[in-house]
Amino acid sequence: MLRSTLVLLLLAFCIVPFRAQEVNKSSQTRDPWWKHAIIYEVYPRSFQDSNGDGVGDMNGITSRLDYLKDLGVDAIWITPMYPSPQVDFGYDIADYESFDPQYGNMADFDRLMSEAKKRNIRIIMDYVANHTSDQNPWFKESRSSRTNPKRDWYIWRDGKGPGKPPNNWQSWFGHSAWTYDKETGQWYYHYFYVQQPDLNWRNPEVRKAMYDVMRFWLDRGAAGFRIDAVSRLFEDPKLHDDPILPGKNAFGDPNIQHKYTDNLPEVHDVLRDMRSLVDDYPGNPVLISEADEPNIQELDKMYGANDDEIQLPMDFQVADVNKLSAPRFRELLDEIEFNPLKGQPYFFFNNHDQARTWDRYGDGVHNDQIAKLMAALLLTTHCTPQMYYGEEIGMRTTVPTRIEDVKDPVGRTGWPKDKGRDGERTPMQWDTSKNAGFSKAAKTWLPVPPSYTKYNVATEQYQPDSIFNFYKHVIALRRELSALHDGSYVAVNRDDQNVLAYLRTANNGTDPVLVALNMSAEPQTVNFSLKGFGVQGNSLHVLLASPQQRNSDFGLTGVKLEPFGVLISAVE
Ligand code: GLC
Repeated sequence: MLRSTLVLLLLAFCIVPFRAQEVNKSSQTRDPWWKHAIIYEVYPRSFQDSNGDGVGDMNGITSRLDYLKDLGVDAIWITPMYPSPQVDFGYDIADYESFDPQYGNMADFDRLMSEAKKRNIRIIMDYVANHTSDQNPWFKESRSSRTNPKRDWYIWRDGKGPGKPPNNWQSWFGHSAWTYDKETGQWYYHYFYVQQPDLNWRNPEVRKAMYDVMRFWLDRGAAGFRIDAVSRLFEDPKLHDDPILPGKNAFGDPNIQHKYTDNLPEVHDVLRDMRSLVDDYPGNPVLISEADEPNIQELDKMYGANDDEIQLPMDFQVADVNKLSAPRFRELLDEIEFNPLKGQPYFFFNNHDQARTWDRYGDGVHNDQIAKLMAALLLTTHCTPQMYYGEEIGMRTTVPTRIEDVKDPVGRTGWPKDKGRDGERTPMQWDTSKNAGFSKAAKTWLPVPPSYTKYNVATEQYQPDSIFNFYKHVIALRRELSALHDGSYVAVNRDDQNVLAYLRTANNGTDPVLVALNMSAEPQTVNFSLKGFGVQGNSLHVLLASPQQRNSDFGLTGVKLEPFGVLISAVE
């Protein structure tokens, strides 16, 4: 009897953990963490150097987890740290399942994961699906002969004649997208640099190998992936020429429409596979896609017809308005609310590929105030927000002044029209010590911008009115108030040309929050009438204002906003 009870107990112990691992796919979408999360992009070369070689690394990131926790970040997306010749600073991957020693090793990664977990911070891996490095063993095999079993893992074609590529397709980084390989007498296709050959996603072996990569990282605890350049996975098999547009680009090539290499319908088959794969794992792993979709209809397709593809496609329309225009932001946000996206909106303003907000939206006079306004826009609208390291302290774009200093090859090909992306990738500014506390090296991989003496974490944390404290405050509000992290959005004062104002209301219809952002350089006085929105309150209680307000409560009429002023208030 005792023995059979023991056997039953043992069996129960074996079965219970197994059951706990089973994942009910339909439960993945109920209320996933990523809907309420703040995601923070870390560019590892520039975040924190722990070993004094002038390049940031994994142990550096681990040492800054308390900072991220304190800031209020829920997940970090780390750009690629895999072995790579670093032609495109990690986006040219030579091995998908290990790390480049300059960033650390698997033990460092496991430590980063477990330390992050202790702080409830998730780690999202970068997944470069479109292309590998030309130093990846897959490509080395593929280029070794026309009959190699991996030949078809990449896109190889005959040219149109001696020295003539198969068609007019252009690389995003300038010039032809085809490179001739003397050994085998064919051309290979690369949407990006010559050293980044495109994988052939029509080949089932490629799909299998790349899906195995996803499983590898999910098995090690990754909370999901940011999928690089996802709309570029397929090209027209008939190789039609792309339409030529008027004018020339920064590289001196004719402008073209990437009609036959972008957003082919097959992309969605792959995205459905990927979603199904991640949905097999517990914990709601997330897929974030990088794709500069030209309009909301294309963006909406990324979620999948049955919300079965990407959970968080990046919204480049909102990111790249590039001027402070209340009507334009209102229009884009309305588009989302009136024509509901199938899933959660995903907003960002900064990343490692484009000039920082401080410069893109700043007017040269009120940039710090505008940085706060952009923070409020990102963190109080209806979306999952993504930040980029350093935006919380007002880091600016610091472009190289001499071509000899340029690290990003785009900057060398495009100089001086396009100076590349070094400017937005400079080291994080932690304090006023040597190299802004980023590194003890004599020389850092990119120079520390001179602005570090004023704009750095150590200094700003003690200034109540700093950009850093504004971010902390608005992040805290977003976390605390259901109206902000979860609630509905509706624009108010729709005809106002200067002030973008909106109401966020918790989903049970209570606790309305009114946000007003003056996107002009003149003071504005605004009147609100909120009854039509089902809001009964007739006074505003300031939750956060910038510049700081002397009064903390006022009525709904005659509300004054300073140039580029921000008001976040409870309606009572
Ligand atoms: C993405 C990355 C960018 C990279 C490119 C090619 O756009 O964000 O940094 O250069 O893909 O991989």
